[in-house]
Amino acid sequence: MVPKISTLGGYIFEYQKSVTNPTGFWSNIAESFYWRKKWDDILEWDFSKGHVQWFKGAKLNITENIFERHLFFRGNQAAIIWEPNNPNEQHKTLTYNELFVEVNRFAAVLTRLGIKKGDRVAIYLPMVPELVVAMLACARIGAVHSVIFAGFSAQSLGERIQDAGAKLLITSDGGFRGSKTIPIKQIADEAMSNCHCVSTAIVLKRTGEDIPMTSGRDIWWHELVNEQETNYHATEMDAEDPLFILYTSGSTGKPKGLVHSTGGYMVYTAYTFKNVFQYGDGDIYFCSADIGWITGHSYLVYGPLLSGATSLMFEGIPTWPDAGRFWDIIDKHQVNQFYTAPTAIRSLMALGLEWLDNKKLHSLKVLGTVGEPINEAAWHWYHDHIGKNRCPIVDTWWQTETGGIMISPMAGITPTKPSYATMPLMGIQPMIVDQEGKPLLGNSVEGNLCISYPWPGMARTIWGDHDRFVKTYFSTYPNMYFTGDGVKRDEDGYYRILGRVDDVINVSGHRLGTAEIENAINEHPLVDESAVVGFPHPIKGQGIYAFVVCTHFSTGGVEGIRNSIMMAVSNMIGPFAKPDKIQIVTGLPKTRSGKIMRRILLKIAEGKTSDFGDTTTLLDPDIVQEIVKGAHAL
Ligand code: WT7
Repeated sequence: MVPKISTLGGYIFEYQKSVTNPTGFWSNIAESFYWRKKWDDILEWDFSKGHVQWFKGAKLNITENIFERHLFFRGNQAAIIWEPNNPNEQHKTLTYNELFVEVNRFAAVLTRLGIKKGDRVAIYLPMVPELVVAMLACARIGAVHSVIFAGFSAQSLGERIQDAGAKLLITSDGGFRGSKTIPIKQIADEAMSNCHCVSTAIVLKRTGEDIPMTSGRDIWWHELVNEQETNYHATEMDAEDPLFILYTSGSTGKPKGLVHSTGGYMVYTAYTFKNVFQYGDGDIYFCSADIGWITGHSYLVYGPLLSGATSLMFEGIPTWPDAGRFWDIIDKHQVNQFYTAPTAIRSLMALGLEWLDNKKLHSLKVLGTVGEPINEAAWHWYHDHIGKNRCPIVDTWWQTETGGIMISPMAGITPTKPSYATMPLMGIQPMIVDQEGKPLLGNSVEGNLCISYPWPGMARTIWGDHDRFVKTYFSTYPNMYFTGDGVKRDEDGYYRILGRVDDVINVSGHRLGTAEIENAINEHPLVDESAVVGFPHPIKGQGIYAFVVCTHFSTGGVEGIRNSIMMAVSNMIGPFAKPDKIQIVTGLPKTRSGKIMRRILLKIAEGKTSDFGDTTTLLDPDIVQEIVKGAHAL
């Protein structure tokens, strides 16, 4: 059993152990898992080369640690509770035994289709249990899954499929989301028509609508599954073999396919899940994140299932049929731990307390948040109205790259402070540095957040581009992993995440590179150039503000061009990346050397009309006043 810390003294003691003897600490945790062969070496690392290996030489299959390790005791316990989009549709429960059978069946299907260890499989599915089955079946046969969030456009899906060189795509006819039906297969078809690596598509029937099936390529999921195939012998994997690829945005270039390992990721997600949420036997745990993001991978699928937990997955959205839906689900299934994003809390808070009438919420023990800074008002609302002042809140800071939670309270153990992620978890060695990379030691400091020592859950590379991995994360500050976040350590040694210090924005917990949005906008034939910045948004955390230079628009006027820019972004990335504000300008504030002065645009986007600092290097200082005027009129 993975050890669980239960007191503050225990945390302090274990933390000390974990940083003075990290290899001893992690090998002890790793002993709780089932390895076909134990490691030859616990850790090998060299940050200057972006080289990190944990449990080298060990052999395992992660699904044996989910199933075989638990079936004897937990075979009849629910592994997944699935709550459909429509509350009138029957929910589903899959016990560990039942999920195991489905995973084995689907592993046999993948093998029959010629998928082998190391092959990449792209998954583009809505939030249905088959998504979990597909991921675990890949893991069982040693294929590398790449789940793509079903809100991404055909273009984004195609790019990701192509980048990973996936042979197979697993998708569905459509998906339900609130009152909408999403044409998943149509988007998948468009994506596949532009990338030729995919030879087969497995299509799950979810909405039942009429869709075209391309013969020789598309096959229905239900026609492939053979009821007899209930046992598939798991493929032996090396601890360092890739488990999955997950794409995320950075400040420059195309999205990066972060690669996560098998052994280290397993140990880290299971350990952090159990300790942060203080999960206990029989608890019902509900993570509202989509599996298309890292939170869903680590804390809906792998962490909970590796811990023998019951993990609730929800197909729909928090505001449909009404804004009480989360709370109904919590009461209906007697949820004990609930994990969601600040943006969801803020949007529900804005809709008023009447949606909490008649909701009991008695079962709740722990509340969690993730993905963006939580402001104090939202923290208090969550604490008072959802947690009824008795549930600790775990504000968990981490990233796609870190694989698991890094800085967070452990529920009920670490004393909390609103909007503070509080303290590093075991084995995590944060280092705050100034712009020059000088470590800022002691308390009451503010700077850039780095991690100075490896942890088992960290990403190992960027798919197909290790140099970019080294450059992005390990070259800003020598011998440290650079997170891209600003942070404050207060007088008590508590950490508060201040947000990104690079050109990444966080919109409703979705991570987007400003360059990515600019590229999409610049595709528009009437656009000369553009600059995108984030601005404070009361619900989304950050909104997207686009300054767009276009000199030749005529048809449709300003409104027409705004709408077509929105469409362009929606088509290139996905509807969630649509700008909140588009200001058409005649030029951008640039230095004489042609560099856009983003800090000025950031201030204008925030609503400032003066005090732009030193503008003497600007090529055309008048443009600033013109943009300010236009912003005011927007
Ligand atoms: C970025 C990572 C980690 C799962 C979801 C997001 C921001 C994440 C917090 C938090 C303040 C947070 C950071 C980070 N972030 N959690 N508790 N408080 N900011 O993963 O898409 O890789 O985004 O999200 O800026 O760098 P992601």
